[in-house]
Amino acid sequence: MAGRIPQAFLDDLLERVDIVEVIDRRVKLRKSGKNYTARCPFHEEKTPSFSVNPDKQFYYCFGCGAGGNALGFLMDYENLDFPRAVEALASSAGLEVPREPGRGGPDSGEQEQGNKALYALMEQTATYYRQQLRQHPQASRAVQYLKRRGLTGAIARQFDLGFAPPGWDNLLKALGDTPAQQALLKDSGMLVENESGRLYDRFRDRVVFPIRDQRGRVVAFGGRVLGDDKPKYLNSPETAIFHKGRELYGLFQARQANRKLERLLVVEGYMDVIALAQHGISNATATLGTATSKTHLERIYRLCPEVVFCFDGDEAGRKAAFRAMEAALPCMEDGRQARFLFLPEGEDPDTMVRGGGAGHFQELVSNAMPLEQFLFESVAQGLDTSSMDGKARLSKLALPYLRQLPDGVYRQLMFQALAQRTGLDLASLMQLEPPPPPPVHEPQQDSDGPPPESEGQARPQPRRREASHSRRAAGYSNMAQAAIALLLHQPGIAGLVDPAPLAELDGEDVGLLRELLALLQRRPESNTAMLLGHWYGTPEGELLSRLAGQERLIPTEGIEQQFVDTMSVLARAPHHSKLAAQVDKLKHTNYADLTELEKQQLRELLQEKQRRDAQGQKPR
Ligand code: UTP
Ligand code: MN
Repeated sequence: MAGRIPQAFLDDLLERVDIVEVIDRRVKLRKSGKNYTARCPFHEEKTPSFSVNPDKQFYYCFGCGAGGNALGFLMDYENLDFPRAVEALASSAGLEVPREPGRGGPDSGEQEQGNKALYALMEQTATYYRQQLRQHPQASRAVQYLKRRGLTGAIARQFDLGFAPPGWDNLLKALGDTPAQQALLKDSGMLVENESGRLYDRFRDRVVFPIRDQRGRVVAFGGRVLGDDKPKYLNSPETAIFHKGRELYGLFQARQANRKLERLLVVEGYMDVIALAQHGISNATATLGTATSKTHLERIYRLCPEVVFCFDGDEAGRKAAFRAMEAALPCMEDGRQARFLFLPEGEDPDTMVRGGGAGHFQELVSNAMPLEQFLFESVAQGLDTSSMDGKARLSKLALPYLRQLPDGVYRQLMFQALAQRTGLDLASLMQLEPPPPPPVHEPQQDSDGPPPESEGQARPQPRRREASHSRRAAGYSNMAQAAIALLLHQPGIAGLVDPAPLAELDGEDVGLLRELLALLQRRPESNTAMLLGHWYGTPEGELLSRLAGQERLIPTEGIEQQFVDTMSVLARAPHHSKLAAQVDKLKHTNYADLTELEKQQLRELLQEKQRRDAQGQKPR
């Protein structure tokens, strides 16, 4: 297992290469002032808004917002993962990439050798099946079958479709010429051993679909019968190199076909992925006969910000969609999106796209139901949400799901949406939040499957702006961000609130909210663009653009009330945190051990709380 690439090497590498040269080799640049420009390779445009700055060794597109250094450019332009982009850049600079000693144990080298042999064998197997589809005496049955399903030779080649001929020992004879090869074929799941110890081919008389991992290596196969026999599909078992909970069929091809992925579809079947690709929809992937896992989703979200799940509209499809939603909740960081497309009963993406065409299907995808709607609709099913009782039940049922959301504006806005739907007060919904679980120090590992391979060395993430120490602080920060998002959307609402109580709160986001309110007091006529312009090029500006981009989460009505509510929760926050600190202290100390002063403070705080609670949260 290759170790990490040392940071010092990365720094050195970026020092040595010139981003202008790196980009110019791929996209012709024109000098313009001290910068270089071109038409952006990451989005369609007529006039150049892509700019490369040689001083800062940085590129940026004013059209689509793509930007980064030379490594980032290579990753995006050539669809490379981080280690591979480093390799590519280093080799163009004539450098060897050093690796820190691997994390693996002493036998990891041996294991890597073993896996190498497995990967090679799977590739040979794929080649063998591909050849059989061309030349086996019975191949025409398979070819006819694929044609009947509307596939062309080109798409069959793109997905490397093959044919496992009828018979028990075709593959065994073709590739298992030594006992070692046979053992390897067994390890790869391609041969099965019966009770009497005899080996036979797993895939027989089937069309086969090689399953490739993120790097394009064949790690497993799926096979479909040519008629109505059962089981219809057969998949490789889990092996040292194949874990169903991690791999997505078609992901490699989707990345190959798209320079920049905006959105990935998750469909149920192999044939759905291929039929969609046949119709020019090249961003579909399928789970391999398992439910969508959090690992799948993390993999998807590392590549693009949006996933659309396609399911049958029947009961089973709804259930599967709900499970997918549960897996998605913890992944819903700001800027990510998940949507659900329910197809008419009896249809799947394959039949839909063949029947209605690509344009129609794309339209369905574009109008798929957002996660927030699906969540609230599913949870509200069977409840009379116009009654008090129904509203209370709705909040009770929805809260556990909302709590799965990671900290951020999305989470905050979902709580606000729940408050709106139930008529319950946002502050009490948020206060009902149980304390955060104690921090668990887990190695970064997927829940299913072995530790990520070395390819998993992630692209170094930019430093996060805020590192909140506690859920409570993070909660205020979310609230401040939510208030900022509303303000950016409708700056006029600044006049509805009194910014004074914010003075007692700490935190970068609250600070930014304060500044924003102050600016809007001085210049009430400012619009969104002016506000963004004011902070342009600063870290705050980045946050502001991101928040401004969260438009879809802004309610269509009731913005004023939501803003006033959020501000009043924030206004009471300092009081709550003081009280909470005192209560925390109480938990760890006997009441008798508190100083007189502390006891007095605590009494005052409790009285104050009662007073405020009785008064309710009245905006100015
Ligand atoms: P479906 O039964 O919906 O089939 O299985 P499909 O994809 O529409 O197949 P066609 O159109 O008849 O060829 C969806 C997925 O579930 C898994 C496979 O991954 C399949 O693509 N599956 C299904 C199995 O693993 N085994 C089976 O026997 C059936
Ligand atoms: Mn189908």
